[in-house]
Amino acid sequence: MKLTEAKKSSENGCNDVDISDRAPSVVLRSLHSAYITKYLSRKTTFEYVSSEYLRMSGIFWCVGAMDLMDKREWITRDELVTVVLGCQKQSGGISAAPGHDAHVLYTLSAVQIAVIFDFVELLDVDGIVAFLKERQNEDGSFGGDRYNEIDTRFTFCVLAALYLLNRLDTVNIPKAVEHVLKCQNIDGGFGTRPGSESHAGQIFCCLGTLAITGQLELVDPTKTAEWLAQRQCDSGGLNGRPDKLPDVCYSWWVMASLAILGKLDWINRENMKRYITACQDQESGGFADRPGDEPDPFHTLFGLAGLSLLECEDLEPVDAVFCMTKRVLGDKSLC
Ligand code: FPP
Ligand code: ZN
Repeated sequence: MKLTEAKKSSENGCNDVDISDRAPSVVLRSLHSAYITKYLSRKTTFEYVSSEYLRMSGIFWCVGAMDLMDKREWITRDELVTVVLGCQKQSGGISAAPGHDAHVLYTLSAVQIAVIFDFVELLDVDGIVAFLKERQNEDGSFGGDRYNEIDTRFTFCVLAALYLLNRLDTVNIPKAVEHVLKCQNIDGGFGTRPGSESHAGQIFCCLGTLAITGQLELVDPTKTAEWLAQRQCDSGGLNGRPDKLPDVCYSWWVMASLAILGKLDWINRENMKRYITACQDQESGGFADRPGDEPDPFHTLFGLAGLSLLECEDLEPVDAVFCMTKRVLGDKSLC
């Protein structure tokens, strides 16, 4: 049994977890870098093979986590160039892995990897831009791929990738913004589509889109920040919607959203740090969604990025819109 094993409880009518006194409270950097290196080198594990459908994002989570710890020599640029170029499709878009279809999720991850390892000039940028432009619908919304499922996540992916490639002018920005504003609810939050329930991940995507397009003044920051601040549970962890359990990735979606609004001090930092550090696996390294659960690269990136927003323990400063270090973004950093 793991020392950090958490007991799920629903005291005070609120789903939450208990944090053991023996849970880690400092950042276990060397364990995390060993965890990431091992994760990407053991390509026959069930965990690795079964996540092929999201591989490009998986690689971004690993590369991003290492960059936050200022570790750059653990993987070669050549290896990443081969992986990314091997996933560009005829449509210009990039897929999760060879043999899969292109999608805006993996296209953004590929662009982020190329920015971190400085090989954007090796990409077929015109092809990527054509694929992203093609995803916009007449009402300003974006589909994720040729099947055109609509989601504000995809709006963020397209605009973030175009911004990083200096090609934001390719799509209809006023229409994109109009669509995002239609996805805002009366509670101040945003959903996947007009009328969908508020969700912290979607709020991040919509505020990120408004930050990229310079239109943040179109939202009332107080109302949205109130909804976000109410995500903090007694354990210190943040959930993504009312009555859900806290999850370390929401440390990112919620805190980054608050940071974009300039209201990061609306959460209790001490309790937040306690929750995130308790989600570390002190045997294998890596972060899990909740204390005692299995770690994975996704929660490892967002755990470290959350701690960076809290300015903990020499982690590289992170940009709240792109979840990339300010160091690699340079003058492209927005927040
Ligand atoms: C929760 O998803 C998270 C979201 C909806 C936001 C996802 C954002 C992106 C894919 C854009 C890329 C972001 C960055 C930082 C590069 P979930 O499916 O885990 O939700 P659940 O907790 O409700 O299951
Ligand atoms: Zn999560």
